[in-house]
This record gives sequence, structure tokens and C-alpha cells, in this order.
Amino acid sequence: MADNYVLIGFMGAGKTSIGKLLAKRSGKTFLDTDEMIVKQMNLSINEIFSVYGEEYFRDLETNLLKVLCNSVHDSVISVGGGTPIREENRTYLKKLGTVIYLSVTENTVIKRLKGDKTRPLLQGTKEEVRDKVSKLLNERESKYVAGSHHIVKVDRMNKEEIIEKIMSFDQED
Ligand code: S3P
Repeated sequence: MADNYVLIGFMGAGKTSIGKLLAKRSGKTFLDTDEMIVKQMNLSINEIFSVYGEEYFRDLETNLLKVLCNSVHDSVISVGGGTPIREENRTYLKKLGTVIYLSVTENTVIKRLKGDKTRPLLQGTKEEVRDKVSKLLNERESKYVAGSHHIVKVDRMNKEEIIEKIMSFDQED
């Protein structure tokens, strides 16, 4: 029985904040792959993208997932919004634990990430950011669905409701 929860979903879906609370409620350890990569590289996500490029960052994500698959138990793992893009990552995510897709609409993302400077893929004017969110969400939706065991539409739910819903799912083998 896989005893980890894995949270996936678009930027701004609440993977980190829900992950921390879920870990507390379920007595598990919280891990965040973005945070682990930042520590490993000693660079911010913005710096990794600007110095090495997106593909390099994606390789770091894949390599980290492989390591986690063989070493992590009894944890809640929140991964970056782009992690499920790669097919091999989707396989690793499902191997790692019960994968929950926190699904959000374009409007929620835009509201929550207004003025955010930490996400290299969502910089630019208001119009540019809206276009980027819309394009990326469309491209990724089917991958999030394919990469998950369960979907929670979080737009109109509060944190407690989301946690309760996740904990009501059976954990997958
Ligand atoms: C990304 C999401 C970010 C981070 C990076 C790329 C993406 O993580 O990994 O900026 O491609 O969606 P969050 O989803 O935690 O914001």
C-alpha cells in the first residue's frame, strides 16, 4: 500500500498550502519538490530558468521524482505545476502515491497569482499573463487528469473541505 499523498495541479491551485495542512492532519511529513530543487541548486526557480533554461529544470524534476519513488514513505508531496507534463513523470507520480489533482479555473489562478514574481512562466502584462494561463491550462488539463487517481475542483471549497475530501479517498496500491 502506497502511503504517500501526491498533490498535482496548476500554479496557484494551493498544492503547497493544502499539502502542509494535509500533512498535519494525517500525521505525515510534508515535502515540496520545488523547495527541494531550490535547496539542491542553491538558486531560486527564476534563476534556474534564466541560467539553465526550462528543460534543465524539467530534468531536475524528473531526477528528483526517481529518487523520491525509492525513498519516501508516509509523506505528502507537493510537486511543481509542470511536473505532470512529461509522461515518464506521470508514471513516477502514480508510483509514488495516491495522486490528487487540485483543479482550478483560469480566473482563480489569475486572482491568486496577481503580481507574483516568483513564477517565470507567468510574467508579463496582465493580458500576456491571462493568455499564458489560458494556453498552459488547456495544454495541461488532460495530463493532470491522466496523471492523477482523484480530482478535486477546489475553486469554491475552503481548505478544510479540501482536506476532508482528500482524506475520504482510499489510498491506492
Ligand atoms: C511551474 C510551476 C511552479 C514551478 C515553476 C514551473 C509550472 O510550481 O515549478 O515555476 O510549469 O507550472 P508551482 O506550481 O508550485 O507554482
